[in-house]
Amino acid sequence: MIKPDAVENGYIGAILDKITAAGFRIVAMKYTQLSTRDAEIFYAIHKERPFFGELVEFMTRGPIVVAILEKDNAVDDFRALIGATNPEEAAEGTIRKLYAASIGENAVHGSDSDENAAIEGAFHFSGREIY
Ligand code: RTP
Ligand code: MG
Repeated sequence: MIKPDAVENGYIGAILDKITAAGFRIVAMKYTQLSTRDAEIFYAIHKERPFFGELVEFMTRGPIVVAILEKDNAVDDFRALIGATNPEEAAEGTIRKLYAASIGENAVHGSDSDENAAIEGAFHFSGREIY
C-alpha cells in the first residue's frame, strides 16, 4: 500500500517508479480508501499496541494505492526497498528514507511473509482483479 501521507504529498508516481525499477511486476492495483472497519481488520495484529488508534485514524484519512507485487524473494526484497519502519533509521535511497516523515506516517506498507501477502492480497482484491 502507498499510504495516505505519500498520496497527499504527491509521491504515487515516484514510489511506483522505484517499485517497477526494482523488478517487481504489478499483478493487481487500485486507488481506494479504507473504512475504519477495513483498517481495524487489516491491522488487527496491532490492536493491543498503544499506537493502534492513531494507525487506524491515519490509514483511513485519505485515499491509498493498493497493489499486489510479484518477484522472486518479493517479501524480503520489498522490505529492503522500503526500508525500516522508522524513516530516521531507514537506509539511504529507500522509499521510507526518501518519502516518509515519521514512524507513524511512513509512506508505504509491505507484507511481512508470503502467507500474509496472500491474506492481504485477498483482503483488497477479488480473483478477477489479479493478473
Ligand atoms: P507495515 O506493516 O505498515 O508495512 O509497517 P512495518 O511492518 O514496517 O511496521 P509494523 O510494526 O507492522 O507497524 C505497522 C504500522 O504501524 C505504524 N506504527 N506506528 N507510532 C508508532 O510507534 C508506530 N509504530 C508503528 C506504522 O505506520 C507502521 O508502518
Ligand atoms: Mg508490518
